[in-house]
Amino acid sequence: MQPSPIQEIHSELLKVKKVKLLLKRDDLIHPSVSGNKWRKLKYNLAAAKELNHTTLLTFGGAFSNHIHAVAAAGKAFDFRTIGIIRGERLDSLNATLQYAEDQGMQLHFVTRSAYRQKNTTSFHIALQEQFGRFYSLPEGGTNTLALKGCAEIITEIKDQLSDAPTYIASCCGTGGTIAGIIQGSTALEQTEILGVSALKGSFLKGEVENLLATANVSVSTKWSISNDYHFGGYAKFKPPLIEFINDFRKTHQISLDPIYTGKLLYGIFDLIKKDYFKEDSTIVAIHTGGLQGIEGFNQRYGGLIL
Ligand SMILES: Cc1ncc(COP(=O)(O)O)c(C=O)c1O
Repeated sequence: MQPSPIQEIHSELLKVKKVKLLLKRDDLIHPSVSGNKWRKLKYNLAAAKELNHTTLLTFGGAFSNHIHAVAAAGKAFDFRTIGIIRGERLDSLNATLQYAEDQGMQLHFVTRSAYRQKNTTSFHIALQEQFGRFYSLPEGGTNTLALKGCAEIITEIKDQLSDAPTYIASCCGTGGTIAGIIQGSTALEQTEILGVSALKGSFLKGEVENLLATANVSVSTKWSISNDYHFGGYAKFKPPLIEFINDFRKTHQISLDPIYTGKLLYGIFDLIKKDYFKEDSTIVAIHTGGLQGIEGFNQRYGGLIL
């Protein structure tokens, strides 16, 4: 469903702080290629067809939203798909990998140390020898064409809202989605962009700068990355995050995932409490999907997410 709908979130806190929070529901774009995954794949799939590729090959961890999305997109758009998966194959596949295999994706497990070599030429040549010619999608699907797809989030927001929002916020893993949003934000120059990192550390700003430079984007918008809401690091969590996600679902009937969007919305509400956002401002938060990961998360941690 594009443009993805924009939904207002109502709460006492928002009223008291005089802040309007809108959620752009990219999670509703497509049942299996949802959220930022569709945005990132759209122009890559077109390029792969244009170059007469019949095989997509990509990389990811065992619970990867990207692996799930590429498997689904391959089935929908008639590509053979190969997933290079970090770690050993276990006797029983988790929900994400089982889904990928059911879509016809060929799963190829490599050790963690081999996986670290995935961007080297020798690794690429070995893959070509093994699998033949393929269109390679990087881990997380982030490349220049992915940025182009994510930039369309901004053109949609511009068409959908009569007034430009004060802030647009999205969560970050590789930084591709927020880089695309920054790229698109030349269309909304007064709007400030906030990325909330799902990873521990402060390297993401540099990653985003590199992605923008590679895509030849000159930036005029104000943007920043918050490194305060990773809850211990990638795929790590603490009880307050789970509580927040379950409360949010109960109150607003909207599911959030514990890896990305839960951390984003937790961060936004915390920043609202701390008066980070100006009074009378409008924030558009991007719901980047990732809900497929809840099943695997619950398998691992005993049904924490309701
Ligand atoms: C659901 C979801 N949201 C956000 C992100 C972060 O996107 P990016 O890697 O482009 O920073 C990801 C990872 O790609 C994701 O799967």
